[in-house]
Formats: sequence, C-alpha cells, structure tokens
Amino acid sequence: NCPGSLIVVSNRQPYRHEYDGEDDGDERTIAVDEPTGGLTAGLDPVCQRTNGTWIAWGDGDADFDVTDDRNCVAVPPSSEAYTLRRLDLSADAVDSYYRGFSNRVLWPICHGFTDLIEDRPDDFEWYRSVNDQFATAVADHADEESIVWIQDYHFALAPRTIRDSIPPSATVAQFWHIPWPTPETFRDCPAAVDLLEGLLGNDLLGFHVDRYATNFLECVERTLPSAAVDRKRRAVRYDDEATTVVATPMGVDAASYDRMGRSVDPSRLSSFLTTNGIPSETVLGLGVDRLDYTKGIPERLAALERFFERNPDWRGSFTFVQKATPSRTEIPTYQRYGEFVRNEVDRINSRFATDGWQPIVYTDAYLEADMLAALYRRAGVMIVSPLVDGMNLVAQEYVASSSEADGALLLSDRTGAHERLGTHAFSIDPTDTDGFARQIADSLSTPRHERRRRMSVLRNRVFERDVDWWMATQFDWIRSVHDDRRPDP
Ligand code: G6P
Repeated sequence: NCPGSLIVVSNRQPYRHEYDGEDDGDERTIAVDEPTGGLTAGLDPVCQRTNGTWIAWGDGDADFDVTDDRNCVAVPPSSEAYTLRRLDLSADAVDSYYRGFSNRVLWPICHGFTDLIEDRPDDFEWYRSVNDQFATAVADHADEESIVWIQDYHFALAPRTIRDSIPPSATVAQFWHIPWPTPETFRDCPAAVDLLEGLLGNDLLGFHVDRYATNFLECVERTLPSAAVDRKRRAVRYDDEATTVVATPMGVDAASYDRMGRSVDPSRLSSFLTTNGIPSETVLGLGVDRLDYTKGIPERLAALERFFERNPDWRGSFTFVQKATPSRTEIPTYQRYGEFVRNEVDRINSRFATDGWQPIVYTDAYLEADMLAALYRRAGVMIVSPLVDGMNLVAQEYVASSSEADGALLLSDRTGAHERLGTHAFSIDPTDTDGFARQIADSLSTPRHERRRRMSVLRNRVFERDVDWWMATQFDWIRSVHDDRRPDP
C-alpha cells in the first residue's frame, strides 16, 4: 500500500501509442502497447489504485496525438485510472541524455566497463536539462501528500531539484536498478559530485543488494567530505537533508510466469521448434538477453564451443537457443557487439553442425510473454552468464516458469541474483571457459531427482520474494521516511 498519492518517474513509459500500418493518406488507427513485465507491469496496478501520475519520455509515434495540452493522457485506455504525462524530448535531447550520458557514461561506469566510457561534449548538460524537465513536470503534479518514486540511472540529478521544488512534507524516493560501482571505479566518473549531490536529494535510495549500497556510501564518504555517513544505519546527512539507503532485491511476477508456462498450447511450442529447425526430442539449452556487452554472451558461446569439443556425444542431442533482443542499436559499441555475437554463432555452427542439427539457434524474433514462459519451461538448461548484472530478472523468470522443476539454472556469480540463488544454481565464473563448459556438462548429467531438489529450493526463493514482496518492502520503507518528514501533530 502506498501511503500517499504516487508520482512515478521513469525513462520508459507504461503505455505507448503507435500508428498501425503505413501512412497512405487514409485515416490511421492508433494501437496501444501495454506493459508486459517487470517493473512497469508491477507498478501499473499500484498507480491505478492510487489514481497516481506517471511521468515518462513519450517515444511512441502517436503519443502526442492522444495527449491534452499538458501532454497528459488517462490510462489504461480501458479504465482511465491514472494520468500518464509524457515528456516530448527533442531528438538532440534523446541523443545526449539517453544515448549519451545515460548509456555511454553511467551504464558502463556502473558496470565497471570504464574503457567503454564515451564522455561526449554537451551530453552531461543535456542530461541535466532533461532531469530538470522531469523535475518541473513532477512539481506540477505534487502536493503535500505526494510520494515521488523515481526509477533508475537516467535520473541522478532530478531528486535534488524535485526536493527543492515540492512541499517539504512530500517524499522523494528512488530505486537504482543497476549496480553501484566501487569508489576506485567511480573515481573515473565525470560530474561525480553533481551526481551524488543529486541522489542525496532523495529521502530513500534503494539498491538490489548490500554490496551496491555499501559501495554507494563509500563513494559519498570519499567524494563529499562534508557528508555525514552512518554506515551502520545506512544513512547520510548532507546539506541539512537525510537520505536512507536500503538494499531490497527485486523479484518477478512468479505466479504469472508459472501460469503462462503451463497454459501455452503445446502445438505453438512445437511450431516454434520446427520453424527454427530444432529437433523435437533435443535437450534444450536457453539464453535470453538484451544484446548488451554486460551479458557475457561471447563468453557463453566460448563455453558452449568448449563443451561440444569435449563432449562429442552431446552433438546432435543438445541444442542451445539464444534469444537476443537488439538494444540501444544507435550506439556503435552495441552494434559491434551484436555483429560479433552473430559471427561467433555462425563460426561455431559451421564447426559442429550436421544434417538436420545445429548446436546454436540464434533468434532475435519477438516472442510473446506466454511463449517465452513456455520456452523457459521446456528448457532443460538455462544459461545466465553476465559479466556484471545489477540483479538479472531472466534467471528468476526461468525458475518461476519451470513448473516441472527439473531444469538446471547455470548462473554467473557476478549477478545480483546469485546472492540469493547461487547456492542451488550451477554457479559459474563466466570468464573461466573450462570451468563453465564443465558446469554445462555437469548440469546435463546431474540426475533428475537432484535437479528437482535444487529447483524446488530455487522456486521457493523466487516465489517468496516476488515483485509484490519487493514493492511492499519498498513501500514499507517509503512509509517510514514519509512519516519522518511529516510535522508532529
Ligand atoms: C536495464 C535498465 C532499465 C532499462 C532496460 C532496457 O534493465 O535498468 O532501466 O529500461 O535496461 O534498456 P533501454 O535502454 O531499452 O530502456
């Protein structure tokens, strides 16, 4: 339960309006994309219950044809329960704020890829200007009782501006969905002081795991000498304001993955396998990732190659499906990464493929949520091998969908998810090709009863701390900082 009227701020929007079909002069119909998973789908019902406001970048081509003169539209289209306010960002703003400072500086630095930082002139100033635009929009909607809940690294500066422009009794909270780096890495961050000062405008700042919260507090200590950091209570006092820092790992909508995985008509799954040339009796391995250099896909392919070298018996009877979602494709580093992955798949396939079988099936086709859940359920081995990942929801989605409970999860020890699932997953160091390949072989030869034992523990953990648990925990914290802000009666 949210203690006040909720204002959510995020870069991506929950509903997107797009024209159907080509513009051939006739009147065109507008279709609405609805939230399908993760945070957006979890927060949407809360916003509906509280008649809240959601402020986001309007990136659909028909978005501003359905909004009023303040760029607001009532959503969901069927029941109009809350206000979605869209920011109409210019092409330059999007290029610099989103493809620039957010994804060429903050994303690589927070994941420890400092050699990939591209700090282009003007990107930071655009980032500031877009954060200011969001803050102005929040101030338009906020009242004494408001709870402003900001999502992710696109908004490190906005919290302070919002704090200064809304009533003192309103609360500002943020969840940082990606890792927070060590002070040694953060040292390379341009505008470090501004970013920390911005984030300390929050009453509450959430991370997935303890490590990121501790890193953040250490960065504050080293970068802002006048801040009072209480590491034990995880609290910071700076510029007369207090920020509480918490670690609450995000979960998935486990019940819905479980349900979707079971409900799909088997013929749809068979036709997916046939269309992709996958023999129906094959043991299926699966990887599901955005095409992002943090996800460790080349390392996974190297381990699969080693596995097929060392285990010729599995050739022809184990097929690995890599479902990839193209991401941030305007950024050259991402384009090069995608090309490299596709070339590696081709190279490995040309080494081992036989008539009627190839070791790796690569697809970037869109899959509906229920089909994805059915594929998870069918997969005997799921490989999640990021080099760094704040949490990784795919690992949890797999576990939630595995209602037969006999699949094996191979999980990188460098993900936030590993802290809770690592003991019963097949743990891997993604850069140790030999060890990784051995784990693939072990997971395939582990007896069914042992796989079931491990998977049952994993399923309990994923169901216990699902997205509802995460949201309730966040709101408990928000309620406690909200109470602290309010004047004594
Ligand atoms: C990560 C971020 C999200 C982001 C998602 C997809 O999970 O934490 O904030 O929405 O990647 O990236 P995109 O750039 O397409 O929004």
